[in-house]
Amino acid sequence: MPVIKIAQKNKIISVESGKNLMDALLEAELPVASSCHGQGVCSKCFVTVSPIGAHTELELKTLEKNKLDLSKRLCCQIFVTNDLSVETTYW
Ligand code: FES
Repeated sequence: MPVIKIAQKNKIISVESGKNLMDALLEAELPVASSCHGQGVCSKCFVTVSPIGAHTELELKTLEKNKLDLSKRLCCQIFVTNDLSVETTYW
């Protein structure tokens, strides 16, 4: 099972491989900003993830539209298949 490390909150959670990152964070009682409910269009759920992985086409379009740099990912568009560390400015 992949492990997600959230240093800002002193949390480490294990998730099923393929689990949506936004769902995993919410289930771990970590707030995730969103106004599109995970549809990948609002960009409010942006996080910094390591390793960063590959952006989806929708993420690239949304990040560009909202003038966010490509060092960010949209957590609603990430499906966890390996260990990650996650941080964001709104925690
Ligand atoms: S929740 Fe809106 S882009 Fe992720």
